[in-house]
Amino acid sequence: MGRVLLDNVYKKYPTQPDYTIKGINLEIKDGEFMVLVGPSGCGKTTTLRMIAGLEDVTEGRIYIGDRDVTELHPKDRNIAMVFQNYALYPHMTVYDNMAFGLRLRGVDEETIRKKIEATAKMLGIYEYLNKKPRELSGGQRQRVAVGRAIVREPEVFLMDEPLSNLDAKLRVQMRAELVKLHRRIGATTVYVTHDQVEAMTMGDRIAVFNLGVIQQVASPEEVYNKPANKFVAGFIGSPAMNFLDAKVEGGRVYLAGVELARVNVDDGEYWFGVRPEHVKLGKGVKGKVDIVELLGGESIAHIDTDAGRVVVKFMGVPVSASQNVELNLTGNRWYLFRKDEDEKCVFFGGKSEV
Ligand SMILES: Nc1ncnc2c1ncn2[C@@H]1O[C@H](COP(=O)(O)OP(=O)(O)OP(=O)(O)O)[C@@H](O)[C@H]1O
Ligand SMILES: [Mg+2]
Repeated sequence: MGRVLLDNVYKKYPTQPDYTIKGINLEIKDGEFMVLVGPSGCGKTTTLRMIAGLEDVTEGRIYIGDRDVTELHPKDRNIAMVFQNYALYPHMTVYDNMAFGLRLRGVDEETIRKKIEATAKMLGIYEYLNKKPRELSGGQRQRVAVGRAIVREPEVFLMDEPLSNLDAKLRVQMRAELVKLHRRIGATTVYVTHDQVEAMTMGDRIAVFNLGVIQQVASPEEVYNKPANKFVAGFIGSPAMNFLDAKVEGGRVYLAGVELARVNVDDGEYWFGVRPEHVKLGKGVKGKVDIVELLGGESIAHIDTDAGRVVVKFMGVPVSASQNVELNLTGNRWYLFRKDEDEKCVFFGGKSEV
């Protein structure tokens, strides 16, 4: 079936001094919606293009289903790719765009017509079948690109930032439509984005990339609640997690000399991490509010404390600029990350509200 397996995959572009992909192991299960997420340049597109066969693998193997496809031509891999810019043929109608791949494969016109009509109805683009791409809105073109991929009935869908050309509202709408579509069709999907909200809302699991290395593969809930390291903790969540210098001595955590909690980790220097939505007013670290941003029913306060700047997300607007406050940083979930190269999460404590 449509599982995808990356077995110790490396990629080195001849023009780059260093490896771009540094040993990736990833199994995408049959029918799974897997999101590859990470900052610009971390190797997401490169990974997707290697799965598609559009880019050579320097080392390692790639399997689709039970087949080793590492040396196979893209057209023999039974995948369909949807790109950021849709890559529709401008001189062809929507119908011909959708029919193109099937005609290349020698499928008869009657079968093609049935598939296109069914898919177009499902995607709400039936009435555009005789139009040219330029006559359509961005969202409609997007659906045509997805439809073109669907009619090919691939084992695996590969999508590279397919929504990034759309305005914010349409993006939210298309996001939901793609998730529904996946539920209906159930095909294995590998979806690339640098948008962590997209990753969190769409993925069955997400693989967080940085610098050509997978940092963590887990469900959205797990990545949010139990980030493997400081990079993942800071990348997932908005506003980003706060990181403060902390010290552990004799099983006690200190921030700016204030004892906050007891932990069972070795003495030493750590990053203390706490999400803006998990900080409360209450006994703890003293600070002064710098600015407050209003967001409808919520507010984001930037607070300078003895331990450093802390961003807090409040329900309502309980504090105002220049106000002196005290923050309870350990009332909800909080984390300790080791201060070394890997910056692994070595402790999380407290309850999580998510
Ligand atoms: N054809 C190429 N030749 C040489 N270097 C390349 C090539 N394609 C990509 N790179 C380099 O590989 C690295 C990873 O690029 P890639 O496109 O995979 O990143 P990405 O995670 O998709 O980023 P973005 O979010 O910006 O799309 C970058 O440093 C890029 O400059
Ligand atoms: Mg990319």
